[in-house]
This record gives sequence, structure tokens and C-alpha cells, in this order.
Amino acid sequence: MLHSKIVNTLQADKGTLTSLVTRMQAMLLNIVLASFVFLSCIRDGSAGITSSFVRSAFPAVDMPVDHEVFAVPKGYNAPQQVHITQGDYDGKAVIISWVTPDEPGPRHVQYGTSKNNYKTSKESTVANYTFYNYKSGYIHHCLVEGLEYSTKYYYRIGSGDCAREFWFETPPKIGPDTPYKFGIIGDLGQTFNSLSTLEHYIESGGQAVLYVGDLSYSDQHDNKDNGLRWDTWGRFAEMSAAYQPWMWNVGNHEVEFLPEVGEVIPFKNYLYRYTTPYLASHSSSPLWYAVRRASAHIIVLSSYSPFVKYTPQYIWLKQELARVDRKKTPWLFVIMHKPLYNSNTAHYMEGEAMRSVFESWFVQYKVDVIFAGHVHAYERSYRYSNIDYNITSGRRYPVPDKSAPIYITIGDGGNLEGLASRYLDPQPEYSAFREASYGHATLEIKNRTHAIYHWYRNDDGVKVPADSLVLHNQYWGYIGRKQNQLIEEVSNIE
Ligand SMILES: [Fe+2]
Repeated sequence: MLHSKIVNTLQADKGTLTSLVTRMQAMLLNIVLASFVFLSCIRDGSAGITSSFVRSAFPAVDMPVDHEVFAVPKGYNAPQQVHITQGDYDGKAVIISWVTPDEPGPRHVQYGTSKNNYKTSKESTVANYTFYNYKSGYIHHCLVEGLEYSTKYYYRIGSGDCAREFWFETPPKIGPDTPYKFGIIGDLGQTFNSLSTLEHYIESGGQAVLYVGDLSYSDQHDNKDNGLRWDTWGRFAEMSAAYQPWMWNVGNHEVEFLPEVGEVIPFKNYLYRYTTPYLASHSSSPLWYAVRRASAHIIVLSSYSPFVKYTPQYIWLKQELARVDRKKTPWLFVIMHKPLYNSNTAHYMEGEAMRSVFESWFVQYKVDVIFAGHVHAYERSYRYSNIDYNITSGRRYPVPDKSAPIYITIGDGGNLEGLASRYLDPQPEYSAFREASYGHATLEIKNRTHAIYHWYRNDDGVKVPADSLVLHNQYWGYIGRKQNQLIEEVSNIE
């Protein structure tokens, strides 16, 4: 009796032990699975990164006017501030611009495909202007058309001993798999940090610059004679801009609306000096336009011009987006100054008005990347959108969206206003990577499906890649997904 009681007790304890072990095993399995899911989330990049990198910055002051990068070319009336931009829709033309300080002209550009053998010449326009007490030099713009694709051209401007020679390369013919390397620079200014950014960009081998606005920051100088620091900036940027096209865009520092000194024409300094091929894309203003280059369609918008429904910029953008042919130019980029997604405390929400007007189009047309500046720091988003909200829906939070663009804020060129180093905490879900350092980026298109993107931090004199990404094309990725879905559906029927 006693024996059987002991056996029953032992069997009961054994059962309890077995169930305990089973429960512990299940618990352990749950912990392992939970850890796996957690680690997978981190690996998949759903958590954004706020870089802890802290740099010791050069002082955020403009280089002195007698710095060698601002040197005036020797000789009477020698051309200076030379820069080029694309001159047509598809890249068979350039606009060559320069300033002569003493008198207008010579107005012609001589050019050819070998050095010192200039068989052709074209005439420029010339104009000058005043801004408060400042009187500009003579600003020349020369449209050189009918060029061959993928060709190196040499050009000469000025005359006699004061003539100066430069060169540029035309892009390849528009085509879906044409490789091309763009640089992206913003808010450059003219400090020692700006010089570091520009020198690093030149080393990177980029073929054309997508510029996201705020050029010289001359309006930050007290004397109101804003043209002086426009001149120094023009001489500084020449080291790159005379040799490859910069696609210009305006920022707030180009507005220069100064009624207190009688200067009430917005963008006056900028518009005299920097021109764009806006007529080629049927735009009514040089402040917004589009160009196609290699395998990319680039749309440039003005954050400081009217853009709501029925305005010229709105109507133009609607038509331009409809003109984009992803079979010819698979890559679609938009450039603007104010970012639409930004989690820095500087300029927070300033892009909200444009986001509410244009974001649904950017999603509908599957824009690959939207580049902006304005915030003096770097930030990259995941693909998020916030287009479901309306005044009654209440759906007001950004959500992951495979059709949405990636937003890149790159106003980190290095101007005299310094870095914007305070970010919102916690980091919003849409923000993938952010860091308050100076730098520039390159975007290297490989073919219709893939491009390699790098953001380079200046790192006090050394170029350091700090954020990198393989971009999958939004259109061809979408088509690929649709095709795969179709194949799957057909094989299920079979
Ligand atoms: Fe700005």
C-alpha cells in the first residue's frame, strides 16, 4: 500500500517535472524566436540611425577675399567666374557663362574637339546690373548647340593674352541602360569647409552636379552690396563649374528681397548670373525646369515660387511628369531646396506646404529620389508617404510605401551659417540615417535597374564614405514585380 503510494507520488512528480521541462523548452524556443525576429528587424533596417560622429569643424566663416581660390585672372578684362550648364533637353547643348570686369565682350566662344583648334564660334548675350551700391561686371551667356554626344570639347573665351581655355564632355545619348555619375551638392557657400567639399567632389569623378540651392550666401554680409560675394563665389566654383554642367536651383539665399535699400526684384543677383535651359522643357521661368541626361530625367523645382493649383509651376510640373518616359530615362530625380521630410529641428516642417501639394504625384510617378538642401546637415529617409490624409480621413501619419521616393537632405556643403546639429528625438520611423557633418554625395547609375549612392563626409580634410545605398529603380523594379506576379499567376493556372 505504502509502496504503491510512493510510486504514484513519484509518477505524479515525474509528470510535473516533464510538464515543467516541456514548458521551459517552449519558453526557451519563444525567447529564441523573439530574439530572431528582433534581430531580423534590426538587420532589415527598420530602425533609423542617428550618427554619433562628432567633427571638429573649421570655423564657419567665409574665406578672406584675398584667398587664392578667389584670385582674379591676370590681364585687362580677363574672363572670370566661368561656368556651364546643360543647354537643351537632352544634352546636345551647353550654356557657357562668364563675367568680364572692365568692358563688355569679346562676346564669342570659340570651340572644337581638339585643343587650340577652334573651328567654330558662337556669340553670347551680355548684360550688367546694379544692386544697391554694387555695379556688376559684364555677364555673358552663350548657348552652344548641335554638339555630338560623348565628346570632349575645348573652348576659349576672351582675347589675346587674356584669353582663357577650358573643356567639358557631353553626355552619352539618352538611353535606358546608359551609365552616368552625378554629384549632389547643396548650400555650399564660400568657407574653408566649402572648399573642402568642392575639392572632395572634384576627386570623386562625378560628371555633372545636381545643385540643390543656396549658392554664395552673399546676403549674409552686412554691407548689402551683395554682388561682391557673388563674384568671389563665381571665381571659387569655377574650378568645377567651368568643366562640367551644374544644374542650378534656387534657395532662400537667392531671393535677396531688400526693400530697405530699394532692391525689390527677387532673385536679381542669381538670375543675371545663372541661367537654365527652361524653355527647352516648356517652362515659363528659369527657376523651374527639367533636363534629361544619359538615363536620368531631372526635374528642378523652386521652393520659393508659387506652386499651388493653377500656378505656372503646378501646371508645368503636371505636364512634365506626364512627359517622363521611363523606357528612355528610367531614373527620375527631383531637386528642390526645402526638404519635404526632415527630422532636424532646423527648418522643421518648412516643406510641408509643397509636400501637401505634390507628394501624391511623386508617389504616382514613382520618383526614385528627391534631393533637397536648406538644412545644414545630412539625412536619408526610407520609402514613406503621407498621402492618405484629408480633412476628414484622420489618417495623418507617414507609412511605409514602396512607390514613394527616398528623400535625401544634403544642405551640408559648408556655408558660413555652420551645421544644424539638433535632431528631433526619438528619430521618426521614416528617417533612415542622419548626421550633422559637411559633405557631398555621388549617384552612379549602372543600368536601368541599379544605381550606387554614396554620401561622403568631409571629415576635416579626408573624404570618408559615411552612408551608402544600392538604389533599385522604382519603375523597372515595379515592372519587374508586376511581371513576376503575372508569371506566378499563369503558372498557377497551368
Ligand atoms: Fe536654405
